[in-house]
Amino acid sequence: MTVVYKSDPVRGEVWREIFAREAPDLPFRIWPDIGDPQSVRYLVAWMPPPDLGALLPKLDVLFSAGAGVDQLDLASIPAHLPVVRMIEPGIVGGMVEFVAMAVLMLHRDIPAYVDQQRRAQWQPIRVWPAARRRVGVMGLGMLGRAAIAALAPFGFEIAGWSRSRHVIDGVTCHAGDAELDAFLARSEILVALMALTPETRGILDAKLFARLPRGASIVNVGRGGHLVEPDLLAALDGGQLSAAILDVMRTEPLPTDSPLWSHPRIMLTPHVASMTQPETAARAVIANIRRHRAGQPMDGLVDRARGY
Ligand code: GLV
Repeated sequence: MTVVYKSDPVRGEVWREIFAREAPDLPFRIWPDIGDPQSVRYLVAWMPPPDLGALLPKLDVLFSAGAGVDQLDLASIPAHLPVVRMIEPGIVGGMVEFVAMAVLMLHRDIPAYVDQQRRAQWQPIRVWPAARRRVGVMGLGMLGRAAIAALAPFGFEIAGWSRSRHVIDGVTCHAGDAELDAFLARSEILVALMALTPETRGILDAKLFARLPRGASIVNVGRGGHLVEPDLLAALDGGQLSAAILDVMRTEPLPTDSPLWSHPRIMLTPHVASMTQPETAARAVIANIRRHRAGQPMDGLVDRARGY
């Protein structure tokens, strides 16, 4: 029985140490040094090899090395094979930091001040207390809920939206298409933290922006596929949106000729809002392998019909 890791090899060495120290009964190898393919039962991969079923016929579980599974072509992964998302405290912590930073930056008009600084312009903007700022979080999975918990102590008025009904203390939770309008109409800072599925692809488009209060701003930290980039540029230029903080792009790396790079009201980072942390991720996978071997449900098991 072998566990194979196929992702960033530098971080893989940390996985190797943790497995050796904390799970010596689980032999661990780093791709491409997989040993006998017939003995590989668990694969941790961002991108699994093509022909997974033929290559690793005894595989029991495929673990995504990241929080998302949209990079996987689920149709090409054997139907019987459980696929598991990465749920680990390092990813949650990174996302919480980034979302809190981005919302505070938008709340305090930092994109506007960066632009003004470039032009040597000293122009204070009215400061509103957080209690007067309405933040909306789209996507109420583990990451969305953790971001809300971090924002709440500032006193923001927070609402959430997701496909299915959630109940979160102190947060107005909206569910499904029927309640999307009410959610958008009150969201001055919109944080998109959803899984990318056929239903959510392109959801951040001109139609959605038009339903936000005029001058709203957005944070996209889920997937670039949610955002229709030309619609964002038009909404910024027309004043419907005032700023955007983007960590994920439709095409990554973002092409050097993209107008997103130089737009005065866009701040962007190269998909670094949150990263799988090898120490905590290795422990999360060890715990899941133990659950699987004990016949217990694994944390983060993907519902293929739902797509996450
Ligand atoms: C990164 O985007 C991840 O899915 O972990």
